Amino acid sequence: MRPARSRPRRAGARRGVVPPGPWPLENVLNALPGFRVKSDFGLFAGECALYRPKQVSKPTNFSEQPPSLPPRSPSVRAVSALRALHWREVSAIQEIWLCEGLCRSGMVSCAGDLLAVVVWVCFCGVRVDLRKVVKMVKICCLGAGYVGGPTMAVIALKCPAIEVVVVDISVVRIAAWNSDQLPIYEPGLDEVVKQCRGRNLFFSTDIEKHVSEADIIFVSVNTPTKTRGLGAGKAADLTYWESAARMIADVSKSDKIVVEKSTVPVKTAEAIEKILTHNSKGINFQILSNPEFLAEGTAIQDLFKPDRVLIGGRETSEGQKAVKALKDVYAHWVPEDRIITTNLWSAEISKLAANAFLAQRISSVNAISALCEATGADVTEVAYAVGRDSRIGPKFLNASVGFGGSCFQKDILNLVYICECNGLPEVAHYWKQVIKINDYQKSRFVNRVVASMFNTVSGKKIAVLGFAFKKDTGDTRETPAIDVCKGLLGDKAAISIYDPQVTEDQIQRDLAMNKFDWDHPLHLQPMSPTAVKQVSVTWDAYEATKGAHGVCILTEWDEFKTLDYQRIYDNMQKPAFVFDGRNIVNVDKLREIGFIVYSIGKPLDAWLKDMPAVA
Ligand SMILES: NC(=O)c1ccc[n+]([C@@H]2O[C@H](COP(=O)([O-])OP(=O)(O)OC[C@H]3O[C@@H](n4cnc5c(N)ncnc54)[C@H](O)[C@@H]3O)[C@@H](O)[C@H]2O)c1
Repeated sequence: MRPARSRPRRAGARRGVVPPGPWPLENVLNALPGFRVKSDFGLFAGECALYRPKQVSKPTNFSEQPPSLPPRSPSVRAVSALRALHWREVSAIQEIWLCEGLCRSGMVSCAGDLLAVVVWVCFCGVRVDLRKVVKMVKICCLGAGYVGGPTMAVIALKCPAIEVVVVDISVVRIAAWNSDQLPIYEPGLDEVVKQCRGRNLFFSTDIEKHVSEADIIFVSVNTPTKTRGLGAGKAADLTYWESAARMIADVSKSDKIVVEKSTVPVKTAEAIEKILTHNSKGINFQILSNPEFLAEGTAIQDLFKPDRVLIGGRETSEGQKAVKALKDVYAHWVPEDRIITTNLWSAEISKLAANAFLAQRISSVNAISALCEATGADVTEVAYAVGRDSRIGPKFLNASVGFGGSCFQKDILNLVYICECNGLPEVAHYWKQVIKINDYQKSRFVNRVVASMFNTVSGKKIAVLGFAFKKDTGDTRETPAIDVCKGLLGDKAAISIYDPQVTEDQIQRDLAMNKFDWDHPLHLQPMSPTAVKQVSVTWDAYEATKGAHGVCILTEWDEFKTLDYQRIYDNMQKPAFVFDGRNIVNVDKLREIGFIVYSIGKPLDAWLKDMPAVA
């Protein structure tokens, strides 16, 4: 593929007709092998003229088959439809009629198909008035975060005929998305962004312009837990969502589909719908719920091959039309049987329920891990035996220091609050236990560390390996490492931290920030407070562990499995301890080296048996 070229827009060119900004169609066409868009007229005015490549000669004999479309064309159906027609008939038909006719007959069902037809017709040397035949879909996403950025990048990659613009109120974040150093670390993300940025994927702070031009608006902004007022500590704070909705209503001049991508309480769509319709100036807004199920660390893989895409909409004909429009976007790469459509409220509850179920599995196995330690059983063996039951399954049964991440706790608290508001205290209490066990697991871990070291870590150096909430991400939101470090600092430990993806600045902010403050846009978080003095951060595991009394493994990074533990042992104070919060080290090998090892839910070292830790 030839790299997409960008052309500066001619100032003032054909005002009133020219769509603002470069039309992505030009980039799409230029990216097709053998095509070059004539640059001195046309596209900005809605016309398309192509130079046919020299090596392809125009068919002079009309009985010849028309040239085939370039490989990987977005349209298979349209091509086969056209191939079924005789070439002479095709060329005799008015090309506009051809395209409109194909649309009406249902043979062409989306912009991608239509684009392919246009390309095909142009290839045959025919000029087409694109204003009449192509209605390009334009997507705008509010929020360039962990969800908005990767999700939109994948949509842009899979739908080259759709223009995708991701906007954010954070200037720094957008600048990072436009640089070589993306603001989030996610395996495979760099490659996806590189392939489509500047072609049909754009990052911008010009929010109002792109919202007003978009056909479909995804809202993927923060939905933090409220820290004050009604529902504090549980309910979702919808400030950012509401301000986004009001802005959409303000700047819109054409009908829009507004898609909830953020995780929101049930019935949020109804509230948003009210804001939009009460301020709509006659514009039709359709609200859809399309919760995101990606997992950080495997986001790109999850987006490429989702278990399911869930779309909830109103059961009216307008609502169903909107559902179909969004379904058509995903249908570019997601098999139809994986796209589930439902009503708005079911979609909203499904997201909260899915996260609650996942977190509940972790708390269940963690609860069993405490029992295993007390009885001498091995939680890994127990989890394996339990997971072999096909009704239960093996995934998400690893005992650990606890779950983290931006979603699980927040979504469960939200669920608890909604249950309470709906007069269901028993249900609320049930889900609250999932969080209680998670907190119990973290304090149990800290108590093990302190109890093993003669009941005090005051002035002792504790090395922390891993700060992110899981491997393959730099995300530290609600990471168990924060609570474990705070617990150790409470006992006056000196902590030395190494994580391959997390910066010192981030760690210092996390340790000094109040609970839930992290879930606000970067520039609106409380100013970075003074650094915690007893904490140092290095970029080297051996440096972090040098001279330490104990090592706590808090993230399951693969590289921690293959560290030279003999070298680490040799450079530590004795007795040397390893507290494995992710069950990744070879316990027997480490004990052979001389370490006293604590591994969650595993038979205890004799040393630890004598020093029981109660949370
Ligand atoms: N992170 C995940 O794994 C995940 C998975 C599924 C769902 N979610 C949900 O998706 C939503 C977003 O999560 P995230 O992890 O991407 O958050 P994030 O904090 O990484 O990103 C949110 C972005 O929205 C921006 N923003 C806030 N208000 C805005 C506005 N009015 N206009 C434009 N931009 C605005 C912020 O500056 C921020 O960059 C949350 O509701 C979250 O619960 C997250």
